[in-house]
Amino acid sequence: MSPGPLRQGEPVLLIDRKRRRYMIVLRPGATSDLRGGKVAHDALLGLDEGGAVVSTRGESFLVIRPTFGEFVLEMPRGAQVIYPKDLGAILMEADVFPGSRVLEAGTGSGALTMALLRAAGPTGRVISYELREEFARIAEQNIRRFLGATDALVLRRADIYAGALPEDRPVDRLILDVPEPWRVVGHAAAALVPGGIFLFYVPTVPQVTQAVEALRTSGAFAMIETIEVLVRPWNIDGLSVRPAHRMVAHTGFLTTARRVQRQAASGGVPQDEGSTEAVKPEDEGEAPDEVSGFGEGEPAG
Ligand SMILES: C[S@@+](CC[C@H](N)C(=O)[O-])C[C@H]1O[C@@H](n2cnc3c(N)ncnc32)[C@H](O)[C@@H]1O
Repeated sequence: MSPGPLRQGEPVLLIDRKRRRYMIVLRPGATSDLRGGKVAHDALLGLDEGGAVVSTRGESFLVIRPTFGEFVLEMPRGAQVIYPKDLGAILMEADVFPGSRVLEAGTGSGALTMALLRAAGPTGRVISYELREEFARIAEQNIRRFLGATDALVLRRADIYAGALPEDRPVDRLILDVPEPWRVVGHAAAALVPGGIFLFYVPTVPQVTQAVEALRTSGAFAMIETIEVLVRPWNIDGLSVRPAHRMVAHTGFLTTARRVQRQAASGGVPQDEGSTEAVKPEDEGEAPDEVSGFGEGEPAG
């Protein structure tokens, strides 16, 4: 989102009296059909946002630039996007910081990729793997439309189940929205810096269970935590002050884990007497015997 008058190529939200939203991309000479009337884009170009435009049918629309969250919900989709409530939580849970090196899969429609790019900033690097060409194309278009061109982004047609490519390692954060995150645990241990954060987002309980079990048996991760984010909107209208009748009840579970040395993953007790060796990146795929996780459950005492 950029300040100043509305410009060519920008996405703009037109909102009617009933708060229905219509997103258009401004093109000189173009018109959009809205609820049986037409709005000429030339009437919007050069305007400040926050004003109104009237369609040829006499209907008035508020004209405003979409926030990132609004853009994500309205933008073209290939794959299902991660909702704004979860995008915000992912940035915090994975602690994506300015300048961070982030590996993501799959790109899907690009919603999470954009959130990561905004958090990592121009000095960061977001590498995103996607299997399907048609999804990658939609994502690329969405990202360019909302953020413009950026050197911080690398989009690859690659399979994360085969691991991070050597040129993409090491990374500070590895973030997944793919169906089988347990297949990436060994690769994540190899790709992440010590203390790095692995996060995966999945919609069902069996997926969480299988992936958490893989994290535990890897011996390379600790502080394994799973959350879900529930956001309940409220209706504030005169005496009608109450929760809204509808909410997005379920989207997905978000699990994080820290890349640690083997000794720490097993609760601070060396696995072999006297050995305090770290699990090295080249130990990828190794599955030590010990399975306990440090930092899980209730604090003692
Ligand atoms: C739910 S979508 C991701 C949506 C994305 N997070 C967003 O917010 O727009 C899952 C994507 O992962 C891709 N995918 C599935 N398995 C993959 C793999 N092994 N490597 C890379 N991408 C994969 C799918 O093609 C799909 O586009």
